[in-house]
Amino acid sequence: MLKILFTKEEIEGAVKRLASLIGADYDMEKIIFICLLKGSFVFASDLIRKIKNPVEIDFMRVASYGSGTTTTGNVVIMKDIEVDISGKHVIIIEDIIDTGLTLKKIKDILEERRPKSLKICALLDKRARRKVPVEGDYVGFTIEDGFVVGYGIDYAEEYRNLPYICVLEGERV
Ligand code: IMP
Repeated sequence: MLKILFTKEEIEGAVKRLASLIGADYDMEKIIFICLLKGSFVFASDLIRKIKNPVEIDFMRVASYGSGTTTTGNVVIMKDIEVDISGKHVIIIEDIIDTGLTLKKIKDILEERRPKSLKICALLDKRARRKVPVEGDYVGFTIEDGFVVGYGIDYAEEYRNLPYICVLEGERV
């Protein structure tokens, strides 16, 4: 069963707010956005269109959840970025920070490449489930535990096309 958590309008409001916070922090400097596939692609495409700074975008894909609903802690890089980030301002775009294991690993890898700055912009933050200390610098919504789908976020590859965010309840989770 799908229960709406955030409407299209609420998401639009959050994306607008995040974009203006980012714009204020970076003046008109160039920002490289790294979109974590696949869950962040809808969020990233809306967010970057609200940013006035010069931007570059690249994509990274890591395997974490597979088609189940619990993290393994085994984070494997499936697709790396192609852009050189050394000396550049970088913002990672993530759909959900859950245990934090995925972002911790990605942050460590990217830090080694010596960006000028490295921040995280996450649409959703399940703070109560954190296993490692990772903070989102820009967070759309803090949510309770529960499995969410929609707006790019899937369950076993389904539901990414929903324009809103739902909690998925019932026998399939
Ligand atoms: P973490 O490593 O535990 O922080 O996991 C983060 C990743 O797990 C996110 O990027 C999502 O891909 C996935 N994830 C965590 N919670 C959910 C959820 O409620 N729905 C769908 N995917 C989720």
